[in-house]
Amino acid sequence: MRPTFLPSLIVLAALLLCGCDAPVDHYPPNELYSLVVSTREMVSTQVAADDTTAVVEAWFGTPVQPRWPADQMSGSAAKALVRLDNLERAAGRVYADQDDLHFGLYNEHCVTCHGVSGGGNGPASLLQNPYPRDFRAGVFKWKSTARNARPTRDDLIKILQHGAAGSAMPTFRLIPEQDLEALVDYVIFLSVRGQFERELISGAVQELEYDEARPSDGLSLMSIVGGDEESEALSFARETLDRITDGWARADDAVIQVPPETVADAASIQRGREWFHSPKALCSGCHGQDGDHPLALQTNYDDWTTEFTSRIGITPSDREAVRPFRSAGALRPRIIVPRKLSDGVFRGGDDPQTVYRRLVTGIDGTPMPAVNVSDQPSATGLTSDQIWDIVHYVRSLGESE
Ligand code: HEC
Ligand code: HEC
Repeated sequence: MRPTFLPSLIVLAALLLCGCDAPVDHYPPNELYSLVVSTREMVSTQVAADDTTAVVEAWFGTPVQPRWPADQMSGSAAKALVRLDNLERAAGRVYADQDDLHFGLYNEHCVTCHGVSGGGNGPASLLQNPYPRDFRAGVFKWKSTARNARPTRDDLIKILQHGAAGSAMPTFRLIPEQDLEALVDYVIFLSVRGQFERELISGAVQELEYDEARPSDGLSLMSIVGGDEESEALSFARETLDRITDGWARADDAVIQVPPETVADAASIQRGREWFHSPKALCSGCHGQDGDHPLALQTNYDDWTTEFTSRIGITPSDREAVRPFRSAGALRPRIIVPRKLSDGVFRGGDDPQTVYRRLVTGIDGTPMPAVNVSDQPSATGLTSDQIWDIVHYVRSLGESE
């Protein structure tokens, strides 16, 4: 027995060792979203999810060899959203070549928090508050664009350069600019890929007649993998991909134009304080008097959480009901608390223009609403000058400490 024991131990140790930094071979499928759709539509999504995985891998490749399915897209801006060489640098094994060009950037810098497929549930995510972003929903908080629009490349570069203050999201100011560009491409890639996966799963059930069984040939997602150029499933998949990439391609057009800033004097701050507490803006209703006592409402969760809870009839605090979703990859539901503004912490940037945009768009994926903007002073809306007053007031809150 002795002679065989040692070699097998060495083999085992070697296996464990290469397991450490070798990238995962396949993107983990979005089991959480399959379960959401299955619960919502009251139908099994097993076959739909398996077939979706096959199509998504055929079009987007693997974490070792990512692919950008430009051949399936119709828009030229969409095709040019990301560069394949950037994806290849961001994905895969971590190493540096003789010129110290780094490869495997996402695995080096991001994967512990954001996870292999960008699900926001990497191993380091569990104790963070807020949790890392799940890129697969296509929803981003800290951006310059209209509500529900994608962020611009610039927005993503900025968040990498500055991090999100007061959260676990670090700054990556010190890494070379071309590495940041590669990482931004990879974030866009993961987001497009993840959103495509989600929409194929729900589309399979809702449009392509998937249930416990696979539908007939033309409707089957496997017809795409099989190379059937005529199938209805292929048209559906291409339209879906076009819609998703189009949203990214048009992000620059969705940037909110900020009117010229007014003077930030004591009078403006005082007016801002009044608007802040007024029924028109309702800021104090969530952020508390003077932004000092935020109200932690038991019913307030972010959209990433409500998707698998309240929106499908599950109480987020009901551990038993939430358990299957946790097993499918969901993080523990946690109440989202409005910011204590007197701390002066702005995750999305504290310059006046950024805070102005924050107020007129609200924060995507969270309960923070947009203010009602009106051209003229009115009973329900705020003019841009009045919004500037609030910006000046809010920015003054943190300075007084
Ligand atoms: C230590 C954990 C951690 C690491 C490492 C990390 N992030 Fe994050 N990231 C977070 C958290 C937490 C948030 C959520 C912040 C929030 O909701 O305000 C976040 C948010 C983001 C956002 C979303 C911003 C938005 O507008 O919604 C992007 C994009 C992002 N991270 C990209 C990256 C990239 C790329 C890397 C690697 C270069 C990375 N992160 C590394 C924790 C991390
Ligand atoms: C329905 C509740 C609600 C209302 C009303 C509301 N907020 Fe918020 N606000 C939030 C929540 C929740 C967050 C935290 C979002 C996050 O960090 O994910 C937040 C965050 C913020 C932030 C932080 C932005 C950053 O970059 O970190 C500012 C500033 C802010 N709110 C200002 C305001 C102002 C001014 C108003 C009134 C015009 C207002 N809020 C109204 C819920 C609300």
